[in-house]
Amino acid sequence: MTHPREEVRAGLQTDRPHSARVWNYLLGGKDNHPVDSEAGEVILKTFPEFAAVARLQRRFLARAVRFLTDTAGVRQFLDIGTGLPTADSTHQLAQRIAPESRIVYVDNDPLVLVHAQALLTSSTEGACAYVDADVRAPERVLAEAAQTLDLSRPVALTMLGIMGQISDAERPADLVSTLMSALPPGSYLALSDGTNTNEALNTAVGVYNGQSANTYHLRSPQEIASFFAGLELVEPGVVPTAAWRPDADRAQEDTADVSVCGVAVKK
Ligand SMILES: C[S@@+](CC[C@H](N)C(=O)[O-])C[C@H]1O[C@@H](n2cnc3c(N)ncnc32)[C@H](O)[C@@H]1O
Repeated sequence: MTHPREEVRAGLQTDRPHSARVWNYLLGGKDNHPVDSEAGEVILKTFPEFAAVARLQRRFLARAVRFLTDTAGVRQFLDIGTGLPTADSTHQLAQRIAPESRIVYVDNDPLVLVHAQALLTSSTEGACAYVDADVRAPERVLAEAAQTLDLSRPVALTMLGIMGQISDAERPADLVSTLMSALPPGSYLALSDGTNTNEALNTAVGVYNGQSANTYHLRSPQEIASFFAGLELVEPGVVPTAAWRPDADRAQEDTADVSVCGVAVKK
């Protein structure tokens, strides 16, 4: 938990739930306020499996970054909608395999900015940077990322649980396409998001949206798959998050299929 003076300095809204802090609560973290844990509990009351869904998404991050680093040979990562630091952040996952990996984190939440130091523990061979920016300003994100990443070489763009923060009116597919257009062939997109396929979750998110500083937009699996337009999906395509290259030696948590994910390459 941050010191109250830091919170005032950062202009944090502690009277309304924030996505990053509610997510932190669902993942069992301590960097959240009573409004966030209450909002988390409202979701869990209607849809108790949601904490397992949050854990599932973190495990997809781990499998995707392992694939991108180990199999695809990517050494640069742009992680948008990073969230509050937790175990196994993108730089830890990538640099465990390739210490020279360079990672830029992007989030627009003031508390994530306060905690950004914990994301900047790069290996000496690699680099980590944090950019306080909004995905709805992709040109700015790219300009800041270019201070740390060489955008003439392949980059893996990771967007987990972030497109759902963007309404249809804000044209989420265009944001993804603007970002990917600035990256060279051989770059990848790893993306996951919540689906509107479960009535209990739809109700829970509706209640959350009524009180939160950020609204969440659940979409159909087809709509989420359309974010990969123009890219070549790697096997097994856009699938329920638990089904994307599951670890053979790790038992999956049994939970509802309410999110899909995929990884695709720019040819
Ligand atoms: C559901 S959390 C996902 C965190 C992490 N990617 C994960 O999968 O565990 C969504 C994150 O996106 C951030 N976010 C929401 N809207 C954003 C925006 N417009 N620009 C940048 N980040 C945003 C939130 O602050 C939060 O940290």
